[in-house]
Amino acid sequence: METNILFNERRSVNFFDKDKNLSDELLKDIVNVAVLAPSGFNLQPWRIIAVQSETSKQMLFPLANKQEKVMDAPVVLIVVGDKEGYNNSNPVWNEMLQSVGGNVQMVEGAKQAAAYLYGSSEERKIKFAESNAGLLSMSLMIAAKEFGVDSHPMSGIDFDGLHKAFGLKESEAVVMLICLGYYDSTKQLYPRRPRRSFGEIATIV
Ligand SMILES: Cc1cc2nc3c(=O)[nH]c(=O)nc-3n(C[C@H](O)[C@H](O)[C@H](O)COP(=O)(O)O)c2cc1C
Repeated sequence: METNILFNERRSVNFFDKDKNLSDELLKDIVNVAVLAPSGFNLQPWRIIAVQSETSKQMLFPLANKQEKVMDAPVVLIVVGDKEGYNNSNPVWNEMLQSVGGNVQMVEGAKQAAAYLYGSSEERKIKFAESNAGLLSMSLMIAAKEFGVDSHPMSGIDFDGLHKAFGLKESEAVVMLICLGYYDSTKQLYPRRPRRSFGEIATIV
């Protein structure tokens, strides 16, 4: 789809067709394109929990403020950011080592820089997790639309409750939920609300 059309046609779809499933193959395709999103040092400090089963949905529903779309959409993604995704255990550092011809000093320098830039305060850790996983989230919604799949992002949710219920690690944070599925066109979406444009939000300095 042309970029302009893709962005225009992506909507936060409130109503999903309960009878239309999203295949695991299509979900994989969406995720495998979306992970081309950029991240600091290419650290990809994120993971996705795809909530699909009735049992897991029932657990999710009250933690998503009982928003019906969580039950209607065939899949709801919990986008998780890792506040400590810059640490030594990230396999990306080894990949980086390969890509710089085994230059250990260079990679150690990068590790130190990342630990300082992203890990020197709780505020920075949260920024690191949320900015990177936020980019993944948009990438997921755009990739989904390209594959003909509708989406809905949600942060009107119980972050702590989700963290606990889905067994996240201490260093992890729920960033948002994204419903994926197919718009139930028997129901009306509100017209798209206007956006503030370049002249209103941008300054050239
Ligand atoms: C981070 C984020 C959180 C949101 N949380 C919710 C939510 O909890 N419930 C909801 O109905 N809509 C939620 N929305 C959807 C917005 O209301 C919607 O994106 C906005 O009104 C623009 O509509 P559009 O995406 O169709 O252009 C959220 C959107 C974003 C980006």
